[in-house]
Amino acid sequence: MRRKIVAGNWKMNGSEAALQTFSTFKTPTGGTEVIICPPAPLLNIAVKCLQPTGISIGAQDCHPLPAGAHTGDISARLIADTGARYVILGHSERRNAHAETDRDIADKVRAAWAASLTAIVCIGETQAQRDAGTKLSVIDAQLSGSLPPGATPLNTIVAYEPTWAIGTGMLPTLEEIATVHDAMRAHLAARFTEQISDAIPLLYGGSVKPENASAIFQVENVDGALVGGASLTPDAFAPIVTALSQASINR
Ligand code: PGA
Repeated sequence: MRRKIVAGNWKMNGSEAALQTFSTFKTPTGGTEVIICPPAPLLNIAVKCLQPTGISIGAQDCHPLPAGAHTGDISARLIADTGARYVILGHSERRNAHAETDRDIADKVRAAWAASLTAIVCIGETQAQRDAGTKLSVIDAQLSGSLPPGATPLNTIVAYEPTWAIGTGMLPTLEEIATVHDAMRAHLAARFTEQISDAIPLLYGGSVKPENASAIFQVENVDGALVGGASLTPDAFAPIVTALSQASINR
């Protein structure tokens, strides 16, 4: 059975006080995993503050090299040393604002694996690519380029995030989400064996809210969500986590 995961991407938001509001968060029993990815300066405190809740902690990026003269960057080892176990890689905001290529992302994924972190690898088409009808080939190319050989269900989570749906309140139709998630599953099966593909969690991300989470989680091959804005407060995040834990029971 595949793991069910809700991951919160705090981006450049949050504070120690915001973390404290999650210190009484109730993670569901029965196998739904909850991850929060705060900005790097909060990783240490997040691990300590949220450990009693069962929430796991992740970072939002890492450098491909283990150490060296890279001012302002952080290595996967430094992330792992905080007690964090995940790292988001290839988010569209980094692909765009930092010109990250699929090859850069694959190098970062290798670095994450070497430090025993699980990589949450993000892919997704732009509005222009969607309009041009090239969505599935874009996604295929991003998966090929960003995922190095060696992906397993333990070291890799894939998040499909159409860039036009991030922070906009716009959502693909459930059919569109299903089509892409089926295609991702097929890609992973062709590359890594059906058994590995079947067990790699596939998350949907982009304007996931308490109001739409249940419907998204009914879609076949959607194993959870990567949540931005709605992960910043327990009031918005908890109903999304509950929706996934109930979807797990219903499947
Ligand atoms: P959003 O962001 O939920 O605010 O749309 C998702 C993301 O960027 O991971």
